[in-house]
Amino acid sequence: MKKYNHKLCIAPMMDYTDSHFRFFLRLLSNNIFLYTEMISADAVVHGNREILLKFDPLEHPIALQIGGSSIEKMTEASLVGQDYGFDEINLNIGCPSPRVQKGNFGASLMSDSQLVSEIISNIKKRVKIPVTVKCRLGIDDQDIQKDLKFFVKSVLDAGADILIIHARKAWLNGISPKENRVLPELNYQAVYDVKKYSKEAEIIINGGIKSYEDIQDHLKYVDGVMLGRKIISDPLFLREVDRSFFNDFSPFKRLEDIIEIYSEYADMQIKNGVSKTRIIKPLMSIFNNKPHAKSWRRGLDSYRNNQLAKTVGLSSVHKDFLDGIHI
Ligand SMILES: Cc1cc2nc3c(=O)[nH]c(=O)nc-3n(C[C@H](O)[C@H](O)[C@H](O)COP(=O)(O)O)c2cc1C
Repeated sequence: MKKYNHKLCIAPMMDYTDSHFRFFLRLLSNNIFLYTEMISADAVVHGNREILLKFDPLEHPIALQIGGSSIEKMTEASLVGQDYGFDEINLNIGCPSPRVQKGNFGASLMSDSQLVSEIISNIKKRVKIPVTVKCRLGIDDQDIQKDLKFFVKSVLDAGADILIIHARKAWLNGISPKENRVLPELNYQAVYDVKKYSKEAEIIINGGIKSYEDIQDHLKYVDGVMLGRKIISDPLFLREVDRSFFNDFSPFKRLEDIIEIYSEYADMQIKNGVSKTRIIKPLMSIFNNKPHAKSWRRGLDSYRNNQLAKTVGLSSVHKDFLDGIHI
């Protein structure tokens, strides 16, 4: 079984980490491990796979994140993911959204270690790629010492290859999924403790990690970090990380070149029917907090709104947007 480096992972994020966003992130870093948005096992099994699962070979290494609670469906979805060429199957045991709760999966499964273990061991019997779990510290009034330890032991015994822990509990009643990403407070120590009592296991920490220093600190205690919102608001951080963290100075990483390659990719995708709004989304925030952020976004907006001739592709106009911007 091939296991890839998970020192720096990019979090699964609905409405963000689609194939186009991931393609752009991969241009920024050769060293990150990517995750899809969560796709329900039902959708993987019954939905339009070309739309839901298609990805560019450049995106490797990449995991398919699935959500569900039926052993059969989760196993079938994992087999489909493996056949599609994903490098890992990741189980979502952390999503607190009411829709997901209604289907009795996501974070609510943290209180059913038995079922999660059965799902993992069944998938492990059928697929050859790693099977990993993304979870929380617990839900509602679960005890982080006792209940989390029990959950961790069960999923590791069932054969989970890596455990990614969002370092906060989830409240399943009363607060929204958005609030559940900032509340309750982060508890990194609880994740470090998991590593202490499961030394052999690969443990990845997630939640509120924003700087190079944060990454270095966490890596003293766990095996990898996962970044989410930091990468939405500041994707170019990945270039910095590639240089300072992985000592990767590939000449390929000039920003002008990255934007050029992405623009050519964008034109091809638009020809295939992808909307301009979706395709420019990864580029929107790249100059956030820089003086030229506004003019860059204005350029992309004018491209999206067809103020430029319809036949003009992003690859022919992106240089105009970069004109006068010192990058
Ligand atoms: C817009 C958005 C969508 C998300 N969608 C998913 C998802 O599909 N699957 C999942 O496991 N977590 C999802 N999350 C949670 C993130 O993976 C991550 O655990 C959380 O944002 C905490 O990490 P951060 O503080 O680095 O952003 C989402 C988060 C955001 C902000």
